[in-house]
Amino acid sequence: MNSLFDSVEEKKIIITYNFDKDSNAVLSNNDTLETLKSLPENTFKLIISSPPYNIGKVYEKEVDLKDYLNWQSEIITEMFRVCSFDGSIVWQVGNYVDNGEVFPLDIYFYPMFKNVGMKLRNRIVWHFDHGLHANKRFSGRYEVLLWFTKGNDYTFNLDSVRVPSKYPGKRHYKGNKIGLPSGNPLGKNPSDFWTLIEQEWEDGIIDIPNVKANHPEKTEHPCSFPIELIERCVLALTNENDWVLDPFGGVGSSLIASIKRGRRGMIIDKEKQYIEITKKRIEQFQNGTLKIRPLGKPIHKPTGKEKVSQLPIEWLNNQEENSK
Ligand SMILES: C[S@@+](CC[C@H](N)C(=O)[O-])C[C@H]1O[C@@H](n2cnc3c(N)ncnc32)[C@H](O)[C@@H]1O
Repeated sequence: MNSLFDSVEEKKIIITYNFDKDSNAVLSNNDTLETLKSLPENTFKLIISSPPYNIGKVYEKEVDLKDYLNWQSEIITEMFRVCSFDGSIVWQVGNYVDNGEVFPLDIYFYPMFKNVGMKLRNRIVWHFDHGLHANKRFSGRYEVLLWFTKGNDYTFNLDSVRVPSKYPGKRHYKGNKIGLPSGNPLGKNPSDFWTLIEQEWEDGIIDIPNVKANHPEKTEHPCSFPIELIERCVLALTNENDWVLDPFGGVGSSLIASIKRGRRGMIIDKEKQYIEITKKRIEQFQNGTLKIRPLGKPIHKPTGKEKVSQLPIEWLNNQEENSK
């Protein structure tokens, strides 16, 4: 078992462009559905992705919501087939928005996964503090990860992802354990509310093009996963040498999280440029130059001394004027 703070012994990374059991990094530059159909059944311990949301990003053509969901439903059927018996699918989704009306995609996806026979283990809320500011509704500040398993017997390594508890010194105050520490020395369960990548991530990746350059993992991709988010899932839901698949792999954040933790990874993406960036990121990872936000790094809290956390001077002047 590895925990959040262990590093895995370095393994040679063997890259192939089609699925090959003897490699540990597969970069498939193809269509997702076609490629899934060519993969062997019961193979991947974890299938994790954030699919296109049908909101007109550079890599997708917006279609009718019904057509989009029919396409995703075919993908879910294939993913179920290639997921191992003790495996999981984690589907990270936000909202589809049409003419100001919000359609939360997890509500649509839940019955689709249930229909193929998967079981929901957690609906994880991934919260971030910044993003686009809405004018006609409350600003959206979370997305959802639906974690399903194929069966009832599944891998879940809780000890690998425990986080420091707030009050580790707590003790039992009654019963036969009275006086003994009541927590777990490895820390507490991280719960289904995740803020792990809060500050840098929201500044850098969640579609705020003008500040994207601030994030250590910034690439050309408009919405790549934070490696840290995937790392937690990889550690909890797989064991060393297991296969992890990201069927909409983008610039390979899932693949990097997987090989970083001694797993084998495959991504599928139709855009050649993203596959090329992934290859470059793997090389950088190998030679130690890839910038990755460390897992478990504490969230930055403003001290109040930073300029951005103070009221603008114009507002202060106005307040003084108004109070006269
Ligand atoms: C939300 S992004 C995923 C980002 C990825 N999780 C990462 O960390 O970089 C969706 C990706 O799906 C890819 N994509 C969209 N439709 C596809 C299709 N039919 N076949 C293969 N890839 C597709 C896009 O090129 C895009 O990179």
